[in-house]
Amino acid sequence: MTDLNSLYHQIYKQNRLFGTNQKLKSNPFYRSGKRPNSVAVLGGAFGDEGKGRITDELTNRFLHRHSQVVHYRDNGGANAGHTVVVGNTKLALHQIGAGVLQDKTILISGKGMVLHPIDFVTEIESVKKVAQGKIPANLIIDELAVLSLDTHRAFEAALKVKAQGSLGSTGRGIAPAYADIIYRHPLRMRDLASRNWRQPFTKHYLLYQDLLKGFGLKLAQVAVLRLNQEPVTVGSPDTFLSRLESTRNILIPFIQPVHQLLHEHWHGTTPFVFEKAQALGLDTRWGVYPDVTASDCSLTGIHSSTEGLVQPDHISATVAVIKATYTSSVGKRVMPSNMNIRLAQKIRDDAHEYGTTTGRPRDIHYIDLPFLTFLRRVGGYQYLAPTHLDIAYPNIPIKIVVSYTKNNQEVPYRPDQRYLLQVKPQFLELPSWDGHTIQNITKLEKLPKTTLQYLAFISQALKVKLLMATVGPKRHQTLKWF
Ligand code: IMP
Repeated sequence: MTDLNSLYHQIYKQNRLFGTNQKLKSNPFYRSGKRPNSVAVLGGAFGDEGKGRITDELTNRFLHRHSQVVHYRDNGGANAGHTVVVGNTKLALHQIGAGVLQDKTILISGKGMVLHPIDFVTEIESVKKVAQGKIPANLIIDELAVLSLDTHRAFEAALKVKAQGSLGSTGRGIAPAYADIIYRHPLRMRDLASRNWRQPFTKHYLLYQDLLKGFGLKLAQVAVLRLNQEPVTVGSPDTFLSRLESTRNILIPFIQPVHQLLHEHWHGTTPFVFEKAQALGLDTRWGVYPDVTASDCSLTGIHSSTEGLVQPDHISATVAVIKATYTSSVGKRVMPSNMNIRLAQKIRDDAHEYGTTTGRPRDIHYIDLPFLTFLRRVGGYQYLAPTHLDIAYPNIPIKIVVSYTKNNQEVPYRPDQRYLLQVKPQFLELPSWDGHTIQNITKLEKLPKTTLQYLAFISQALKVKLLMATVGPKRHQTLKWF
């Protein structure tokens, strides 16, 4: 807190801007001792920070200078989601990265992901619809990527009724699919591609049928959700198999071993963009239980998905995306930083804070420095990309949490709901700006002084450099420090 007092004084009294109004002095994509032209983008809070947009920008930057780029995703599955606007069509992507629309992208769904074949085919079809019947990118599914099936969704639906922990999940069967790995019986993409695929999938169905029987449910009759939120019943073993069979011809051309290919590109010169899903605050280890997901949302997930090939320390720019002036989340967690209801509703409406995957209204929180500092420490990223800088109102100061106290003593953030209910947030109000008027600004030095001061305060408090920021929803509304 003393540090923050001194930082506040330097920025708001002495007007030190810590370089926020000028480009970075050294190239973030070419740092000494790092693999040149490699970046990783991760969620720095509770998800939905705008990672897809930042990833697209970085991919495009590399494509201006190189003939191809590897775009790699290592975690999550259909629980993620972002929308890409192509002409007048909105393309909702969940398991496939937005790089799919770029013909020079090698787009890899990595080993660490859990993929739903039927939803994957739906996404492929919707990409084809906007891309003249083709998949522009070189789309590759790692043969070792794990399957998340209707059986997992049914099991999760049953857990939602019985157990509090699953209540907030997206219902996409993510945790049960990852649990299959822990239980040592995952089905993988290569099992689906194999000639004798029916036998292991029948065995899998029967296992889940027995598990559901334990809940007093008939697996065949349990309703599960598809990407469009349409419920379908899992059906008999025959239905289960025939639905999967119809995905095989479409998916098999994309399923292949990935490790050798990755090895060649990583030790070559092709730029790499690693796009993580979800966020550090949803990681099983670093999030607030029960609102956590089952995958590794940190940079170490890249290490394990690439079988140790890519060490996070060797990636040139590791960048966390956060919403600049507030934080949003979905779930049951109660944060000390919960925002007052009226301002939260205003922000929810102005920033369309409703889930892409589930349509749920998101909770809105004040920017919480103890929380973000904790995630910065465990996440180990180097750069920051604040989005939604236009969600700011000239007559409403930006209130941020600067510390927590318990029994009048300053205490740190800890990812423990009971503990978080006992701490008292201490706030600071920082001068705001007019979000509308900054939407057309393209040069850093043209940002209002209060915006630059705010960015300086947040980035210095988190001890990271700024890489990019967004001032509006459109692609050109992006500021860059490189
Ligand atoms: P699951 O990933 O479906 O198991 O859901 C576990 C928790 O993570 C729930 O609180 C979800 O709302 C949250 N979650 C999962 N994916 C996302 C995401 O992409 N953005 C925000 N929250 C997510």
